[in-house]
This record gives sequence, structure tokens and C-alpha cells, in this order.
Amino acid sequence: MGRDQRDRRSRQLGGHRFVGGDLPAVNFRKDVLEGLARPQKALPPKYFYDAAGSKLFEKICRLREYYPTRVELGITKKSLKDIARFAGKRCALLEYGSGESLKTRLLLGALQPSVYMPVDISSDALRAAVKRLARDFPKLGIVAVTADFSHPLGIPAYRGKARRVVYFPGSTIGNLRRDEAEAFLRMTRGQVGANGAMLVGVDLKKDPTVLHDAYNDAKGVTAAFNLNLLARINRELGGDFDLKRFAHYAFYNPIAGRIEMHLVAREAHKVNIGSYRFSFYRGESVHTENSYKYSVPEFEALANNAGFKLAKFWTDPRRWFGVFGLVAV
Ligand code: AVI
Repeated sequence: MGRDQRDRRSRQLGGHRFVGGDLPAVNFRKDVLEGLARPQKALPPKYFYDAAGSKLFEKICRLREYYPTRVELGITKKSLKDIARFAGKRCALLEYGSGESLKTRLLLGALQPSVYMPVDISSDALRAAVKRLARDFPKLGIVAVTADFSHPLGIPAYRGKARRVVYFPGSTIGNLRRDEAEAFLRMTRGQVGANGAMLVGVDLKKDPTVLHDAYNDAKGVTAAFNLNLLARINRELGGDFDLKRFAHYAFYNPIAGRIEMHLVAREAHKVNIGSYRFSFYRGESVHTENSYKYSVPEFEALANNAGFKLAKFWTDPRRWFGVFGLVAV
């Protein structure tokens, strides 16, 4: 049986399939060594999400101060029918993310997509999510893809006639620089084709103190999430970071329109990673994450540049978070 036939069959029967394996650890090593050799040390935020980091992120999503998850869920619940009308029932739904969230379940229930393709960097997260989804949506055909969606995606060609809709919730797009976000939207536009659409969750610009609190929670969960990146380097790359020598530092930069997260050395010292040695001076930072916040016109302009038109917009009463319904032009 050919792959197409197999795909069709697994969709007809419900059933699920996995594409792509674990991403090589060598990328992690290369990116860490390169990032720490730069004048402004930096580590890519995609490496936050090992098993420990993913657990900490789940905790962040439940924090009182971290409103985006809660607010986006509220918008999705309230506007579910309208969102489903926008995407179209029985569409082919591709999600950038593991499909673990409650929002995804709501959408799957309302849309009854002809096929659902979650794309995630972590094959463990995908397997766990697909297991649960297959149990709760037994008729749903699932093709789970392990891929790093910050690079052009090797998504299996989907040749069905259903409209393709990409779902990108959680304001993960905010973790890309603006030029990267635009390129990413353009890549997605290519993927969905002429008749396609995209649903993107985006954190909006607001009172900086609200933003500040969201990334500096009182329980220190965000700090632990940030520091876990160093612990991961120790675990996986044989590093000897002493976590006590670094402080979590997150602030809103209004000129760049983004939260910046850093890990700041509390004192001058050296760190070894295998045979490599890195010096830190007191106060030196490792830039670990940007989280861009957009105004509605800013995000609309970005989408327009990428070949999308804003067709629908859903928000909460305080306009803290937006779900953008984009259609291909
Ligand atoms: C995943 N991403 C959208 C989160 C954010 O808000 O930028 C990651 C995060 N970093 C610290 N807290 C949450």
C-alpha cells in the first residue's frame, strides 16, 4: 500500500501516524556553543521545552500573573461557533504545537476536521498528546509531525480537497523576531494555499506593569523556567553551570515592543561545557527570550506583507489578547 493510500485509510478510520523522529542533539550543542560565543550571549528559546521545562511552562500557564493562556481560552470559548464558521467544518487542521491545550480540544470538537496535524519539536510531547486525543476523538485522523517550526517545515503533502487551516495559538509567534514572524507567516501562506486560512493567537500591547508581572511571577516559576535552560545544558551537554550564580531578569522594552528575558551572572566566573570554556563578567547577561507584543494594526500589517488578509478578529473585553482570523489573498 502506497503512502497516500495509507494516509487516506488512516484518515477514514480515525487512526494516527507519526512523521519525523527526534531532532538531533547536535543542533542543541551547536546552537549553545555558538550562542555563548557571541558578544551578547544568547540561547534560543526553543530549547526551554525539555521535559522539565515543559512542566514548568504548564505551571506558568496556570499562574495568576500569566494571563495569556486564560484570556485566550476565554476568547476561544466565547467565540467558538464564530471561529468554527470562519475555519470551516471538515477542514484539514494543522497546528503548530503539540495539541495538548484545552483550546485545541474545543476547536477539534467544533470543527470536526477531516485530518488534524499537530507539529511539535518534541516527539515525547506529541506522543503523549496524540494518545490522549486519539482516546477522546476516536474518529479523528491524526498525522503528528516532529519538526522544528522555526525552520521551513517538512510537512507531509496533504493532497485532500479540504481547506487547509493553520492554528497557531498561545502567542508563540511573539517569540520570533518581527522579520522572522513575517517570514513564518509567509511560509504558512505557502502551506495553506490559495483557499487556506490561519488562526493566530497574539498577545497585545498593554500596560507594561501587567506585562512585567506576567514574566516576574511571585512564586518564581518563570525564573525556574529560565534557569532550567542552564540545567538542561548541564544535563545534556556536560556543562557545569552553577545556577545560583545566575539571576532571572525580565523586563518590557517599549521601544522594541517586547518582553526580554535574560539570565544575569551574579559574579565574574567561568563555565565549562565539555572542552569549551566561557567567561562571564559580573552583570553579564545571556539573552534567552523575546516575547513581542503587537497592536492590532501592527499585526495586520505583518500578515498583509505575508500574503494574508485580516478577515476576523476576536478579543477579550480588556483587549489584552487577540485571535486573528487570516485568509490567503
Ligand atoms: C510560549 N511563549 C508564548 C511564552 C511567552 O509568553 O512568550 C513563553 C514564556 N516565557 C516566559 N513565560 C512564558
